[in-house]
Amino acid sequence: MQRHEILNWLREPDDHRLAALWRQADEVRRRHVGDAVYLRGLIEISNHCRRQCWYCGLRAPNTRLPRYRLTTEEILGCARQAAARGYGTVVLQAGEDPALTRERIADVVRRIKAETPLAVTLSLGEQSYETLTAWREAGADRYLLRFETSNAALLARIHPPLAGQTRDRLAILPELRALGYEVGSGVMVGIPGQTYADLADDVALFRELDLDMIGVGPFLPHPDTPLGTAAGGNPANGEATGPGTAPDEHETGRHNGQPGQGQVPATELMTYKVIALARLACPRANIPSTTALATLNRAQGRELGLSRGANIVMPNLTPPEYRRLYEIYPAKACLTETVEQFHAALTARILSLGRTIGVGPGGSPNWRDRQLRPAAGSDHG
Ligand code: 5AD
Repeated sequence: MQRHEILNWLREPDDHRLAALWRQADEVRRRHVGDAVYLRGLIEISNHCRRQCWYCGLRAPNTRLPRYRLTTEEILGCARQAAARGYGTVVLQAGEDPALTRERIADVVRRIKAETPLAVTLSLGEQSYETLTAWREAGADRYLLRFETSNAALLARIHPPLAGQTRDRLAILPELRALGYEVGSGVMVGIPGQTYADLADDVALFRELDLDMIGVGPFLPHPDTPLGTAAGGNPANGEATGPGTAPDEHETGRHNGQPGQGQVPATELMTYKVIALARLACPRANIPSTTALATLNRAQGRELGLSRGANIVMPNLTPPEYRRLYEIYPAKACLTETVEQFHAALTARILSLGRTIGVGPGGSPNWRDRQLRPAAGSDHG
């Protein structure tokens, strides 16, 4: 797909024409990754974070948020629960918490791998090459690190680098690949200051990076962050436009008469478009129907994501007493359901879509192919 075609889909307002995009994404999904929906047990192991990201409620300056960190035993308890439930993977996610040292995480990974058949995915932010190497050697299989937006100027504003930091996320992704991880990345849709052109570039970058996993969710303003208040302004141009008040997408797509220059709205529809386009760009990747999407449409968001390109769901296994404290954005879906309730409802919904529940680790076919021809993957990214 050419970039102008991606841009046209992002700006397409017509439901009938969009139905063709959903059909195509669903068909490509079925052909390349099949009908199985794989469940990944998400364990939010710490909400401490040293970073100052403008969008995220876990940011260090947010003193209103009580902080927690799971013990190794608590993490292992969650992992055992995932295995008992038949999940093939656990995802350990946290803010950039300095107390989660190289040794501590390596130990947790080794113990999960020794005790269970689970694949282990890490989502622990920007780490040194040495640390990523140690975690891979401890047995970690996959790593998730969203690049958030391909607009470097926008990213630099909303995701300030640490003092003295030289590597950015786009530099880390090829390192993960070289270390043999399955590599996941992704973006937020509707970041204040993000244009249609930026989002088209994001989809093109998914393909260029040849990603194994692609996570896409709407930007959801958090009131205790600079992008969560009307005073936050538009980080792209310094205007105080009031994030979260993005006008209707069909008007802004033609902003200034320039195709692609308007603000992308943080809507459910725009998120489905990016999921569908990600599927067309990377047919063999694993693509989750995200919690952020379910937060915008609790009744149907997850199913619609699965019907428009996605093939993964990440049920939350974080102990309930901590779950509400992992407040990346407010009013997250599934804060109160027990694991049992969520699992039963989810299974029924997946089966009612005519899909099956994936068995085993469910690595991306993209990654599996690359193992067979290692040289082919090394010229990407
Ligand atoms: N709205 C939506 N997604 C968010 N994330 C962080 N903050 C927000 C927010 N306010 C996403 C980022 C990050 C992932 C773990 O959560 O994309 O990579």
